[in-house]
Amino acid sequence: MTYRTDQATDLDTTRVGDTTTVSGWVSRRRDHGGVAFVDLRDATGLVQVVADPEEIQIVDELRMEYCIKVTGVVQERPEGTVNHEMLTGEIEIHANEVVILSPSKPLPFMLDDRSEIEERIRLRYRYLDLRRPHMAANLQARSRLTGAIRRTLDELGFLEVETPTLIRSTPEGARDMLVPSRLRQGNFYALPQSPQLFKQLLMIGGVERYFQIARCYRDEDFRSDRQLEFTQLDLEGSFWTQEDVLVTVEAVLKAAAREIRDVDLTDPFPRLTWQEAMDRFGSDKPDIRFGMEIVVLDDLFEDTEFGVFSGALDGGGTIRGINVGSRELSRAQADGLVDRAKELGAKGLVWIQVSEDGSLRSPVAKFLSDDEQSGLISRLEASLGDVLLIAADRWKTVSQVLGGLRLDLGRPNTQDELAFLWVTGFPMFEEEDDGTRTFSHHPFTSPVSIDEMVSDPDRAISQAYDAVLNGVELGSGSIRIHDPAVQRQVFEVLGIDEETAERRFGWFLEALEYGTPPHGGFAFGIDRLAMVLQGEDSIRDVIPFPKTQTGVDPMTEAPAEVDETQLKELGIQIRAEVIAAREEAGE
Ligand code: AMO
Ligand code: AMP
Repeated sequence: MTYRTDQATDLDTTRVGDTTTVSGWVSRRRDHGGVAFVDLRDATGLVQVVADPEEIQIVDELRMEYCIKVTGVVQERPEGTVNHEMLTGEIEIHANEVVILSPSKPLPFMLDDRSEIEERIRLRYRYLDLRRPHMAANLQARSRLTGAIRRTLDELGFLEVETPTLIRSTPEGARDMLVPSRLRQGNFYALPQSPQLFKQLLMIGGVERYFQIARCYRDEDFRSDRQLEFTQLDLEGSFWTQEDVLVTVEAVLKAAAREIRDVDLTDPFPRLTWQEAMDRFGSDKPDIRFGMEIVVLDDLFEDTEFGVFSGALDGGGTIRGINVGSRELSRAQADGLVDRAKELGAKGLVWIQVSEDGSLRSPVAKFLSDDEQSGLISRLEASLGDVLLIAADRWKTVSQVLGGLRLDLGRPNTQDELAFLWVTGFPMFEEEDDGTRTFSHHPFTSPVSIDEMVSDPDRAISQAYDAVLNGVELGSGSIRIHDPAVQRQVFEVLGIDEETAERRFGWFLEALEYGTPPHGGFAFGIDRLAMVLQGEDSIRDVIPFPKTQTGVDPMTEAPAEVDETQLKELGIQIRAEVIAAREEAGE
């Protein structure tokens, strides 16, 4: 027996008269004048099958998503029934034999792309969801994407190397996912947050150009662009400067855009320093598809009578504004903007609208001198109807607030544009919410100046860079520290004492002692790249079997309890308060 001689979309008018066998699913079935029309779908697309139920009785049994095999003759469709929307719309198969390979239960939801289905249900029946054309297209695009990436890096002489996924816990910013060891009870492996240290070891191991399509695990709180497990394109090179990394990553991203969007991106991609990005867009991952840039207004208000502004300047802060364009602004809408600014961390927000007569409509207009008013109009290039938003506070707060409002109010001109951007020169360290100092990329990133890092760590700049695509942080990388003494200094600035550093990273510090080449690299999220290239809003739509926002797989119901014997083998006991809490929650 043969299941198929052709795939659905192999058939066209050149095949008229041929006998063919196709296999797939019943996508749709209609009856017309005593004849049954079945749209058969396989991985390539649809083809119409015509059958006379008098001749082929089994056709009456066919229901949605039955898996069938059809043998018949390819025919041209009669005049007026050609479907130009369909790849195979000029032909149909006149069935001689139909075999049901597998029946299907009635479906929990319709598999067309038009139906809006609750995500939990889609994930509960993901295998059905994947049959929907746009999900199938996403899977295909992802495969082409990784294919293009592999081909490009192969041509550039990179070695694809697999690194372990049961490793020792290393700090990379997120929480580790842990795996208990049975053979060494009480000990744990960590799943890698990224292959960071292993790729650096490969450089020490003489692999000069490495890449991997690597699964990474981070026990993070969920956001729309995050998952517990995700895929990175991870790469690293020896004897590389930052320039070498950026050029290589640009080549990969260009190949990706060509493959999926059929566009040729111009390189080099625009670059901004972190400071510029924050100053102009209020974000370290700016969406540069629209303007609405932040403008400094400090000098305009040097001698202002308006207490909020003078207070900010006296306190070492800054006054900045954005022109969000001509728009309707009712009192309620204005109050909404002030509330949003407060959500973003502001104490308040000045809003101003340029009225028809050129005067300024604003609750604070009366506090502003004529010079200040005309200065604002020229500085923010305001025309009639434009709305100006001004924040006065510490630099960081002002950037955050105006950057947030800019994203709320700005719209790109077209949805198709791919605006790649490099952000370079990130600070070496940042402050955690509790005020402690932490690394901003990871602790293996090289500072631009070691002296500066030691003398003024909070102002020190690192050799770290991010790639941004349409306002999404696509990936990050850095030039690494290859001198063990510098690596120790960074640990020290991070407050990791020598003993702790030895205990946790002694093995890595030792490796650095053996002629480590200067090296650097990069990793970008393949899920995020696929999401933007496919025009999806959620990375879950480009991941075949993702978890929900709460980290659950509704189909397999992972995470789940395990048998007592499994726990015992691992030397693990669930704490009494956990059991009590679960009982109380009725689990
Ligand atoms: P970083 O931690 O910035 O760098 O991660 C690189 C990229 O991985 C993607 N990513 C995620 N995607 C989905 N879900 C998540 N939870 C998630 N977390 C990260 C993002 C991110 O930009 N080892 C370094 C790279 C290097 O220095 O070479 C690293 O992992 O797109
Ligand atoms: P207040 O003096 O707090 O009543 O504020 C006077 C006006 O200034 C109100 O419209 C506030 O929203 C606005 N405002 C207050 N604080 C700030 C600030 N830090 N930046 C910008 N506007 C502010």
